[in-house]
Amino acid sequence: MNTAERFNNYLQEKLDEREAKGLLRTLVSNAGKTDFSSNDYFGFSTSALYNITGEDVGFGGTGSRSITGNCAAAEEAERTVAAFHKQEAALIFNSGYMANVGLFSTIAGKGDTYISDEYIHASIIDGMRLSHAGRLKFKHNDTEDLEKKLIHTQGRVFVVVESIYSMDGDEAPLVEIAALCHKHGALLLVDEAHATGIYGEKGEGLVCAYNLQKDVYAVVYTFGKAIGLHGAAVAGSKELRDYLINNARSFIFTTALPPHTYMQIKNAYQLLPTADRKTLKERIAYFRKQAEQLKGVEFLESYSPIQGVLIGDNFKAKALAQHLSEKGFFVRAILSPTVPVGKERLRVCLHAFNTTQEIDVLLTEVKNYFA
Ligand SMILES: Cc1ncc(COP(=O)(O)O)c(C=O)c1O
Repeated sequence: MNTAERFNNYLQEKLDEREAKGLLRTLVSNAGKTDFSSNDYFGFSTSALYNITGEDVGFGGTGSRSITGNCAAAEEAERTVAAFHKQEAALIFNSGYMANVGLFSTIAGKGDTYISDEYIHASIIDGMRLSHAGRLKFKHNDTEDLEKKLIHTQGRVFVVVESIYSMDGDEAPLVEIAALCHKHGALLLVDEAHATGIYGEKGEGLVCAYNLQKDVYAVVYTFGKAIGLHGAAVAGSKELRDYLINNARSFIFTTALPPHTYMQIKNAYQLLPTADRKTLKERIAYFRKQAEQLKGVEFLESYSPIQGVLIGDNFKAKALAQHLSEKGFFVRAILSPTVPVGKERLRVCLHAFNTTQEIDVLLTEVKNYFA
């Protein structure tokens, strides 16, 4: 056996260990299945407006934004995003993951402190880790616990939340958190990945819906979910944008998105005000109403498109997802340690294009499985 073969065996052993714990990740396709899983809340990913073939633009980024990858379309898209979300400036990163790693690794350093909600997204955790700043967690959505941490923290403090939590679908008490940050002189940073396009009159997100632009230092908007594209923006002050251009390594050391993506992002922002938020809200209300009538099945408390059927076991959660797949539904299990042990679940993502009949059949299958 040569060195490479021995190493492959070692990798296989590690994979086998994951499989034995029910944690093996495999790649699956949703072809032909009813989508109760993607973040494409309005089905925008197949929008005709994004079909800009025929336009005379390059298909590659050609280099980083700082070298050859900048273009008029990128800056235009950033001005559009900033204006839409009522912010001074925006900087587009290649994904939400890269935006968060770039932002959080850059704006705080030694001597500063991040205080983040315990359920904060992995991309933010990775960014904070790279920053060398101190890190504290507060209990999920618990403003009393947040204040306790704020009182005892010295130096520059950044409070970090998601407006809608990606795994639980519940909303952060943004107004109260903003007031606490103001009281204790902390800077508030909000990830709006799952609120972009969905909340606010035109889909501006919850920071705008609550008119908190002046109380929030920076907001992350992602384009891979309701917008149906790819990429993300950090929106905030002009100084922040310039600072990130100069310091955020996940912005500097990577090839820029291709020009047509920036053009599609701009198109997306024209489409957002017309998104069918009304139907999406109706589907959420319908799902909740039907779910409440299912005896013996526990649902997470959420009023967003992200709904959770609590299972409390990795193997059982995977088995239910597999059962639903066999019935033609694409819906995924979320396992520990992505969520806490005992909170393993089925993550149902509702879309404006899901019909009430589809919801009925899905819930009947869930009920039958538990019966
Ligand atoms: C809250 C949150 N932030 C950031 C991201 C990362 O965004 P992207 O998928 O564009 O990398 C996600 C995606 O899962 C998310 O749920």
